[in-house]
Amino acid sequence: MTGAVLVTGAAGGLGLAIARRLIDDGRQVVIADIDAAAVERAAAGIGAQACVLDIADEAAVVETVGAIARDRGLWGLVNNAGVHKNVSVVASTAQDWDRIHSINARGTFLMCREGARHMVRARQGRIVNIVTRVNFGNPFSAAYMASKSAIYALTQCLAVEVARAGVRVNGVGPGHVGPGTGMARHFKAKADSLGMAWEDFEAQVHKTIPLGRWCTPDDVGGAVSFLMGPDADFITGEFIYVTGGFQAYGVAPDPEQLENPYG
Ligand SMILES: NC(=O)c1ccc[n+]([C@@H]2O[C@H](COP(=O)([O-])OP(=O)(O)OC[C@H]3O[C@@H](n4cnc5c(N)ncnc54)[C@H](O)[C@@H]3O)[C@@H](O)[C@H]2O)c1
Repeated sequence: MTGAVLVTGAAGGLGLAIARRLIDDGRQVVIADIDAAAVERAAAGIGAQACVLDIADEAAVVETVGAIARDRGLWGLVNNAGVHKNVSVVASTAQDWDRIHSINARGTFLMCREGARHMVRARQGRIVNIVTRVNFGNPFSAAYMASKSAIYALTQCLAVEVARAGVRVNGVGPGHVGPGTGMARHFKAKADSLGMAWEDFEAQVHKTIPLGRWCTPDDVGGAVSFLMGPDADFITGEFIYVTGGFQAYGVAPDPEQLENPYG
C-alpha cells in the first residue's frame, strides 16, 4: 500500500470520524471540504493534511486529485461529502433537485472518475462511497434518496470496470446517526415539528432500530476502515449497511416476547 487516502466532506460529522479512524489505522490522510476554515481546524486536530474543495467543481476536482496523486500517491478515496434537504416532492423546486444531484451524484461521479484514473494507472486503490439505505421510501427525502441511488449504481458499475486493474470500489450505508452530524439535524427539527420532547422522540426512533441505539460516526469509521484494509481484498461492488439492523419501519420485539411469540 502506498499513498494517501482522501476523505471528502471531512471538516466534521461522519467524514471527520472516518478520517480519524484511518489515521489511527496508520494511513496518511488528506481531508477535503468546501468549508475552508472548518477543514483547516479539523485537519490540525487529527494530524491530517487539509484541502479546500468543492466536489461539484470539475476543474477543482481534476486539479486537487491530480496534485495528491502526483505528490503523495493516491491509495484510497472516501466519497463522503453530501447534502440533504428536508422537503416533500410536491414542495420541491427544480433547483432543490439540481443542487442535491450536482453535489451528491455528479460530485461523487467526478471524484470517482478522477480517483479511478490515477488508481488504474497505479494498478492499486480503494474507493468507498458513502450512501444510505436506498431500498425503501423515506418521506421528505426524494431528491436525496435518488442522488444516493445514483451513487449506488455508480459504485457497482465502476467496481466491475476497474476490478482487473486492482482497484476495489465499495459503499457504506450509515443508518440513523444521532446528534452530532449535520444530517442528524433533521431529527431535531422533526421532534420540534411534532412538539415532542427530545427524549421521547429519541426513544421512539430507537424502537425502530433492532440494536436499539443511534448509529455513531465511529461505527461508520469502522466499516470504512475494514473496506480499506487487507481483509477486504476480495470484496468489490458491495455495500455494508451500518444501521443496527434497521431495514424498514418495523419494531424489534423484546427478548421475552421471543419465548412465546404467539402467547
Ligand atoms: N448523518 C446521517 O444520519 C447520515 C445517514 C446516512 C448517510 N449519511 C451520509 O453521510 C455523509 C456525511 O453526512 P454527515 O451527517 O456527516 O453530514 P455533515 O453535513 O455533517 O457533513 C457533510 C460535509 O460535507 C461538506 N460539503 C458539503 N458540500 C460539499 C461540496 N460541494 N464539496 C465538498 N464538501 C462539501 C460540508 O461542508 C460538511 O463538512 C453524507 O454523504 C450523508 O449523505 C449521513
